[in-house]
Amino acid sequence: LSSVETDLTPIELGSGITVVWRGKPIFVRHRTEKEIKEAEDVQMSQLIEPQPDSERVKAGHAQWIVLIGICTHLGCVPLGNKPTDPRGEWGGWFCPCHGSQYDTSGRVRHGPAPLNLYIPPYAFESNTKIKIG
Ligand code: FES
Repeated sequence: LSSVETDLTPIELGSGITVVWRGKPIFVRHRTEKEIKEAEDVQMSQLIEPQPDSERVKAGHAQWIVLIGICTHLGCVPLGNKPTDPRGEWGGWFCPCHGSQYDTSGRVRHGPAPLNLYIPPYAFESNTKIKIG
């Protein structure tokens, strides 16, 4: 399928799901107020690949982060969708292969991954539905 519609209503606050789009895992996570604030408050100078959170979410939908769930180091799938998963020091995702860590915006905070998690093309069709691709 070239595009996938995803219903956001079952995704609990603080949790995420994985949707498959074009054979790739796509993370869709429902961020808490605290996670949003942490993502927004980071100084750009602290980031390996500086990018404001506001450029990584859709305007008016900061509670949702949508990412390609493939580590930018060597392509493993990071952990962190479930609150009980290891999420690393920045509370986002942790890559079990070589220990890269990503924050709640999917930005790399600890290598060896060199880049932030990529964001797939997607759009909100309503407040509770996105179309990926
Ligand atoms: Fe993720 Fe190496 S593939 S840290």
